[in-house]
Amino acid sequence: MTEISALKAGLIADIEAADTLEALDALRVGALGKSGVVTGLLKTLGPMSPQERLEKGPPIQDLRESVTAALADRKAALEQAVLDARLASEKIDMTLPAEAGPQGSVHPVSQVMDELAEIFADLGFSVASGPEIEDDWHNFTALNIPETHPARAMHDTFYFPDEDGQKMLLRTHTSPVQIRTMMQTPPPIRIIAPGRVYRSDSDATHTPMFHQIEGLVIDKGITLGHLKWTLETFLKAFFEREDIVLRLRPSYFPFTEPSVEVDVGYTLTNGQRVIGGDGDAAGGGWLEVLGSGMVNRRVIEACGLDPDEWQGFAFGTGVDRLAMLKYGMNDLRAFFDGDLRWLKHYGFSALDVPTLSGGVGA
Ligand code: PHE
Repeated sequence: MTEISALKAGLIADIEAADTLEALDALRVGALGKSGVVTGLLKTLGPMSPQERLEKGPPIQDLRESVTAALADRKAALEQAVLDARLASEKIDMTLPAEAGPQGSVHPVSQVMDELAEIFADLGFSVASGPEIEDDWHNFTALNIPETHPARAMHDTFYFPDEDGQKMLLRTHTSPVQIRTMMQTPPPIRIIAPGRVYRSDSDATHTPMFHQIEGLVIDKGITLGHLKWTLETFLKAFFEREDIVLRLRPSYFPFTEPSVEVDVGYTLTNGQRVIGGDGDAAGGGWLEVLGSGMVNRRVIEACGLDPDEWQGFAFGTGVDRLAMLKYGMNDLRAFFDGDLRWLKHYGFSALDVPTLSGGVGA
């Protein structure tokens, strides 16, 4: 009896004196492990007679319970001490200056959209916008693309489930902003509309979401000549070259008549394709950059304007594609990976801001 009380007092004193979690665990193994002292005593109960066990069992069970409880208490106290020490040593001083500067940068797409806004602001254009969740009428019908028109199928549209007979969709182009602007603002109109557009398409040169910029001019006596001059001026400023050569090809869009697709010439410089120069020169070629045309009178009419009084031109182009051409990027998907190394590789820095005075590409 006294032997067990002495053992208990000794073990508990040792446990309370343990000053590390490792020392405590060694004590646990010594008492309660496979060949620990307490385990050894518990084993002596097996062969005893029921009478003897009734007498000697309770103090041994009490020893096991007391030692187990003392171990748990000490363990909790030591863990709390470790945590307190960590909290005391890992102080954060929020008033210290940051170790690293800003890591990200303005995304090339935003950068190009800002550049375009700067270039067109210089030509007297303001920036307009419209919703990305658009209705069928603004995205198609008002743009002279009726229900049965094959162009609807060509657009790989993402539709929403029908609600109250209203067909809603993710806009497939920025052209619905033409409609919204003509219906809201009395002419003359000179706007650009940059923004996200959506089509169910995905490979190295197509992503389901991409960016377009729309241009619209509505005034009196506007001709194809104004369109060509505007595009030429814009592309010269954007690519920062005077020798931009455009090739206008007859094309078809339901909302413009006549419609023209615009190619820009590139030439071979040190084995590299560089935008600028006559695309028909040896080694050169033409890249399609824009869709455009004179606004179809049916579109002007749909917006409640008199097409005999007001005319204009419109154009639309892919912002991501313009960025790829300007910066020599070859995979559109990298635009949406959010990889800082990619931004750094193309030389974008955190504080880039486009200004015309500094050169938009500076
Ligand atoms: N909306 C057309 C497209 O997505 C581009 C375009 C805009 C063409 C304006 C002509 C005029 O391809």
